[in-house]
Order: sequence, then C-alpha cells, then structure tokens
Amino acid sequence: MARHRVTLRAGADLDGFRQAVRWLIAVEAAPEDVVFGLADAPDLLGAGGIGDAPAIILPRGVGEMIGSIVCHRDPQRYASLYALVWRISRGERALLEVQSDPLVHRLERMWKSVRRDLHKMHAFLRFRSLRDATGEERYIAWFEPDHFILDAAAPFFVERFRSMDWRILTPIGSLHWDRERLVAGPPAKREEAPTGDAFEDGWTAYYESIFNPARVNPTVMRAHMPRKYWRNLPETAAIPDLVRTARAQVQDMVRRQAPPPVRRDPVKAVAAMATQDPTTLEALNRIIAAAEPLVPGATRAVLGEGPIAARIAFVGEQPGDQEDLEGRPFVGPAGQVLDHALALAGIDRGAVYLTNAVKHFKFERRGERRIHARPTAGEVKHYRWWLEKELDFVRPGLVVALGATAVLALAGKALPIAANRGPARFGERPGFITTHPSYILRLPDAAARREAEARFVADMRRIAVLGGLAS
Ligand code: URA
Repeated sequence: MARHRVTLRAGADLDGFRQAVRWLIAVEAAPEDVVFGLADAPDLLGAGGIGDAPAIILPRGVGEMIGSIVCHRDPQRYASLYALVWRISRGERALLEVQSDPLVHRLERMWKSVRRDLHKMHAFLRFRSLRDATGEERYIAWFEPDHFILDAAAPFFVERFRSMDWRILTPIGSLHWDRERLVAGPPAKREEAPTGDAFEDGWTAYYESIFNPARVNPTVMRAHMPRKYWRNLPETAAIPDLVRTARAQVQDMVRRQAPPPVRRDPVKAVAAMATQDPTTLEALNRIIAAAEPLVPGATRAVLGEGPIAARIAFVGEQPGDQEDLEGRPFVGPAGQVLDHALALAGIDRGAVYLTNAVKHFKFERRGERRIHARPTAGEVKHYRWWLEKELDFVRPGLVVALGATAVLALAGKALPIAANRGPARFGERPGFITTHPSYILRLPDAAARREAEARFVADMRRIAVLGGLAS
C-alpha cells in the first residue's frame, strides 16, 4: 500500500509539485510508495503535512521539461515526473539523454504534446472585437486547449497584444488583460464568446487571395491545422470551396501558362539591394519579404525570429519544406532536433534569435515531393548582405553557425566543420561553429546518431555559457 499521498491542485500545479517533490526526496520516498491525487482544494500530504525541505539541483533542461509536463492532461503526469526526479537524484544524472528509456520516451511525448498545444493556441486563437457600452473596443477569443496551458500561453498574448483589452475564454479557465494587469478567471462556455466580427470578411478575403490551388493537400492541411480548430477560425469557412475548385483553378493556371522561370543574376541583385538602406530590422524584413527568390519556387522568404536583443543568434542554412509552408525558421524535423538540444542545454528557444543564411527554400521537384537542394556559393553570397544587416540590428553577443553553409555565409569562406568546431570569430563577431541538426538526422546508424546528438547537446551547453545564458 502507498505510504505517501500527495494531493495537488487540479490543473498545472507546478509549485505544489515542486514542494511535494522536495519533501518526498528528503524522506527517501520511492515512487512506488507515492500516490498523487488531484483536487480543487489542495491538501498537500494527507499523512503528516509537508515541512520545509531542501531544494533539489536538477540537470539543465529537466526543470523546463517538468514545468511543461505539469500542464499535461494525463493524471499520471506527476507520478511519471516524480519517477524521473527520483532516478536522477539516485545518480542517473544523464537520464534525459537516454531516449530509449521507456520513462524518458513517455515524458518526451508528453512534453512534445504540450509544446504542440501551446503552438496551436498561439497560432489558431482568433480575437473578435466588440464595443462595450462606452464605445471602447474590447477583444474576446474562445479556445479549447488539450492541456492545462493557459498560464503558460499567457505571456505570448500579453507581449503581442499589450495595447489591447482582451479576454481569452476556455473550458479550463479564462484570462483578462486590461492593458496593465493579467487576471485569471473561471472556466467559460463557448456561447460567451462572439462568433464573428467586421474584421473577418477582410481576413477571409485575404486567406482566399493567398490560397495556392496548385499546392493544396488536404492531409497536410489537416496535419498543420487539425479540424478541431476549424470552427473557431474565420478563414476555414472558405476551405471546402477552395479545395473543391482547386483542380479547375490549376488547370486554368496551366492553360494560361507562365513563362519558364528565369534565374536572376546574383551580382546585379546584390547591387540593386545595396541601394536600399533600411534603418530598422522591420524595414529590412520588409525588403527581404518583398524580394523574389533567387531560384524561383519558394512560397515566401522565411524571416529571422526572436527578440531583437537576443544574446545568441543561430544561423542555419535555408528554410526547408515545412519552414517554407509555415513561414517560420526551424519548425520542421531539423528544428525538432535543435529544439530538443536547446531544451537539454537549458536554452529557451524564445530567448534566442533564429535565422538562416539563405532566406528562401531551394528545392528540386520529384513528383509531388520537394527535395532540398543545397544553395551554391553564389547564392549564399547573394543573401549575405541581408544576413549581415540582420545581425547588425540584433547585435547578439554570440553567433552560432549551424553547418557548412552558415559558416560560408558568416566567415565569407568555406571551412571544414570537424576541424573548426567550437568557438570562432566571424569578422568582429564572437562566434561558434557546430554541425547542422539535419546532419544528425541523415546519419544512417542509430548509434552514430546518438553520439552525434550527444556532441550537439554538449556544444549547446558551451554555447549557453559563452552566450551568457548559463554559468
Ligand atoms: N534547416 C535550416 O537550416 N533552417 C531551417 O529553418 C530549417 C531547416
């Protein structure tokens, strides 16, 4: 029979869990002797109550993982997390790096699911505007998260919509930002949120205008924007019609056939750009976003992402297929490897700047698939002006080159990664050279992949220290 009962607040009770774990570790309670329960009124430790217990020092990355997984809906989350802390405290300090361990595997999946839920909430929540009795504009959004992520999602919306008065209503709680304070409120019902507003006609028209019938793939669309979010998004009302008429539209486009794409002359293109002199990152981004890809085909330029005063900037090669579709850097498979390594090194992805040497996806078409094609040295040179300007605006203390193309762009010459891996200088900028995360994905052998991943994580830990994010 379990000797210790811990009752935590329903939802994401990180403080309660932390306090309980300190105590359980101090009294050497083995995971099989502990039962975690959930209640609205927390009553920490049915047997005896919790006293003060010393803090536990966990390896980097574990705290972030715990903070995220307490938001998961699974009632077993606390028991699994306690098993993790218990094993780490018994000497398995590198446990999180053992991907084949069933507990680590289960926790990684839960972590990923919470991150995905957060990403969906950031991407698919839509505010509708309302005027109150005084004529003031207020915004209300309805969202149904899978997990208890409301508190974790809040900073993103405060940051983005600081000057608006908004409410987010969900079945697990609500948030109200009045332009100064954030106040948590009770769960809400869908009917309490408006279902449309004047802005939406414009938004739907915009969506229809950017919809590319030649690229329609309902399976991928559903993977990126699962159906459960559709009813809350104004643009989705247009999707069935757009999909139905896509084939006819493509045939029409083929009939009107555009002339074959012409490769642009990199020298002339650079000369044309040098006549423009943006004074802010936003202005630079507008120029990048408006520029045509050097090699035609990409959907859009994928801009850098992250805070302007980030201490560390990571430079990759070029956006991949998924980045091209979503318009954000490092959101595909290589991005997942990078995210995982950053998390293990205790680097918050949101605190660093991520960008690419080349801003457009270059690919070769094989049937339906778009296969990544490596940019030539001339193409890297073409985009170098943008990259340098971008880094001048961000002014990171450390610039990390991920792989050979980034090194070429930053150092201005090709350098072998193996011989130059580690701290570097790119002109005046302190830098660091490491592999590209997709190199790890391409290794055919699982053991080699594990080893390469461990080296990559070790590099990230050095980068965190050199960049001033860890000591
Ligand atoms: N590879 C990169 O170099 N950059 C991305 O954004 C994605 C994959």
